Amino acid sequence: MITVNPVTPDFVAEIGDVDLSRPLSAADIADIKQAFWKFAVLIFPEQALSAENHIAFAEQFGPVEADRVLDTKSGPNRVDTRFSDVSNLDATGKIWSEDSRKRMYKAANKLWHSDSSFRHRPGLCSLLYAHTVAPVGGQTEFADQRAAWDALPEAMKRRLEGLIAEHSIATSRRLSGFADFTEEEGRRMSYAPQLLVRTLPETGRRTLYVAAHAGRIFGMPDADGQALINELIAHVTRRQFVHSHRWRPKDLVMWDNRCTLHRGMDYDDLRWVRDMRRTTVSDIANSCEQEGVALPV
Ligand SMILES: [Fe+2]
Repeated sequence: MITVNPVTPDFVAEIGDVDLSRPLSAADIADIKQAFWKFAVLIFPEQALSAENHIAFAEQFGPVEADRVLDTKSGPNRVDTRFSDVSNLDATGKIWSEDSRKRMYKAANKLWHSDSSFRHRPGLCSLLYAHTVAPVGGQTEFADQRAAWDALPEAMKRRLEGLIAEHSIATSRRLSGFADFTEEEGRRMSYAPQLLVRTLPETGRRTLYVAAHAGRIFGMPDADGQALINELIAHVTRRQFVHSHRWRPKDLVMWDNRCTLHRGMDYDDLRWVRDMRRTTVSDIANSCEQEGVALPV
């Protein structure tokens, strides 16, 4: 039987007595899922995982995304395309150069975001595995959008119900100063409508669903929509909703992209190696479709 050790009362838990490199019993999988729907961020310390172990565990939650936005202009990939390469290494395994394109592209990971909210079928959850960690810095911070929703004044809740935001990777990259997309990348760049407030089917809990990818709100002037999104991100990321994870090698951390935000904290990336790999599992459908809300034209 797995052990669930809450790190915070209802947001982050460590999971023990489980070896994710081995096939899991149906009971253990059910217990992990139950903990995941309750907490939204789970930490599995001391896991010795191959790429295949990592994928196999991720697939317990749904299909693993395989397409990456950044094309080969940044050089060949260091890891296979089922993984997002969350490292500061080039294809040969050396620390990237200060002016590397990948480095500039990845700078947006320091903004509060939800993985793949810019896809029509957004990210359900992500699983990030640490091979090598920086000795100082490089934490990942998580913010609980469910608790942030609960804490909103009723008038604000009424104002937000039914609103739909447009999410795009171009928006977060613009914020981080990266605009150097190739034509091919531009074609693959998606714009996805997503509900601003959504319901988690497993628990019935309501949650905000904003991110740095969100650029405007349908039916509102662009500047007003962006201002509201900024206000909501500032609310969600108030300290009482945030947990900071300090990485250890062999940590696997998974989070629910439907109801959390995260960001990578700075570290001396031209000095220390930080080597992590992420899988993201696709949600079952667009957030509007899941709740029977008509997609905006
Ligand atoms: Fe991310």
